[in-house]
Amino acid sequence: MKITNKISFAVIALFGLSAATFAQDAAPLITYDSLYHPTLARNGMVVSQSYYASEAGLEMLKAGGNAVDAAVATGFALAVSHPQAGNLGGGGFMMVYLKDQDKTIAIDYREMAPAKAHRDLFIGPDGNVDKKMAFFSLKSSGTPGTVKGLIEALEKYGTLPLAQVMAPAIRLAEEGFKMTWALQDSLTRAQDRLKGNAASRSYYYKPDGSVYEEGELFRQPDLAKTLKAIAGKGIAGFYEGWVADKIVATMQQGGGLIDHADLKAYKVKYRTPIEGSFRGYKIVTMPPPSSGGVHIIQMLNVLEGFDLKGFGHNSADYVHSLSETMKYAYADRSKYLGDPDYFDVPVGPLISKGYSADIRAKIDMAKATPSTEISPAAKLPEESHDTTQFSVVDRFGNMVANTYTLNFTYGNGKSVAGAGFLLNNEMDDFSAKPGSPNAFGLLGGEANAIEAGKRPLSSMTPTFVFKDGKPIMATGSPGGSRIITTVLQVILNVTEFDMNVQAATSVPRFHHQWFPDRVFVEAGFSVDTRRALVAKGQVVNSEPTGGDIRVLGAAQSVMLLPGGMIHGAPDPRRPGAHAAGY
Ligand code: DON
Repeated sequence: MKITNKISFAVIALFGLSAATFAQDAAPLITYDSLYHPTLARNGMVVSQSYYASEAGLEMLKAGGNAVDAAVATGFALAVSHPQAGNLGGGGFMMVYLKDQDKTIAIDYREMAPAKAHRDLFIGPDGNVDKKMAFFSLKSSGTPGTVKGLIEALEKYGTLPLAQVMAPAIRLAEEGFKMTWALQDSLTRAQDRLKGNAASRSYYYKPDGSVYEEGELFRQPDLAKTLKAIAGKGIAGFYEGWVADKIVATMQQGGGLIDHADLKAYKVKYRTPIEGSFRGYKIVTMPPPSSGGVHIIQMLNVLEGFDLKGFGHNSADYVHSLSETMKYAYADRSKYLGDPDYFDVPVGPLISKGYSADIRAKIDMAKATPSTEISPAAKLPEESHDTTQFSVVDRFGNMVANTYTLNFTYGNGKSVAGAGFLLNNEMDDFSAKPGSPNAFGLLGGEANAIEAGKRPLSSMTPTFVFKDGKPIMATGSPGGSRIITTVLQVILNVTEFDMNVQAATSVPRFHHQWFPDRVFVEAGFSVDTRRALVAKGQVVNSEPTGGDIRVLGAAQSVMLLPGGMIHGAPDPRRPGAHAAGY
């Protein structure tokens, strides 16, 4: 496995480069499609970050279940096999497309700030944000939404009983699974943080503190007990009873805020999806409290006015036009995006074609505008390090795109003792203080200030693409602030550059988020391209394979082709992802 992973990075670096080179030839001998092969199936497909979780979903499809049954099975299984981000103690967003009604539902099961949370929660005695508290304390945990979100989705849109859908997760936790290289590697890297918490130490490491080796049986008996309580009692099995008692006890012992009243008050919200168009494609995506959907539509609107195909994929003009667009979008994000139940988010103006034309008019193709000279629009026109994505299609044509998270890899690193699962640190997605960036470098203000009961602003962007009224793609990605630009590029690669979904996923990506004023580029951009970008005044990161910027996101996508073929595309950037189809 270690070798495979090394090869996959090499493949990105080498093939990314050669693909870009060949794509510029008039008659390419090697195309993207011949370099990157998607997984093929005819009936249904599940793509997730974990082999065991994709197979859990496939088991439901083969048993006659629909995409929601498979998604919920995958969601619970990821909580066992991919504890980096799969979770019971976090939250997320699920988009469901129901083929027979031609309707998309946006399910918001994002964490809520506990009742005791307040605006200055993370401000230390010196008046600055106490990062340690915002990142790693029990105060960083919002009230978890995952269990309620998954169960409500199943009850409303699934067809199989909860016990059947949760059976693979319970099996994986109780009987154990063979440790994967991906998880072994991740637990090795995270050991300093996880071993600081007695419960996490006992759940994820051997009694002597060593890491399970690839192939060794890894069991999680406390997690199995919790999963069984949920399978038996449904939502009450987590938000009430002994599991709730253990969550509250963990909070009380460690200075956390969540109490029984917060757990009982947790609500799943059904939001109206955001719709946009791009050159005849319809994009249906996640609305606030995700910022992703708004800004993907806003950026596609801006980009529709550029001859992107003429620029050439990943050419300097392409990277420049997208980077400039990204700066304006992230500037607006900092001012206008937050929980719509607490702040009036001007979605209509932000996604209007007219406002995007104003942004486009400001973009100089020869010269970058420094971020310091870009601010959020003063007035909008009147109304006219781990998360995880999985995508599913079933034989009926239904689709699910789901992104959920603990925020950081393994959340705040703290487990609920006796209940076997990790807690999120999603409260850091709030803006703890205007002008003080969060862990992803994102800025914010009033719209995203901490308030009791409020949901922190997210970048998670599960998304569907339609053409001629037919669904063609379900996609999404982890990556914090980079989620939005990752999903944008996967969509553009498919719609503008006609790539198959695996090529669209694998080719090198880049990212700009206004501040820091810098285009992050992955390995695979030529020296000429980088030089041309610098000549335009772009600051290009000098170490594309180092630091925290080795790779951008990890999209997990499914594409439906005319004729009934289904393409699945696990992202090669993070090890362990798997497409399971039949
Ligand atoms: O909701 C958000 O935008 C963040 N909590 C997501 C964090 C994330 O993607 C980390 N992953 N790599």
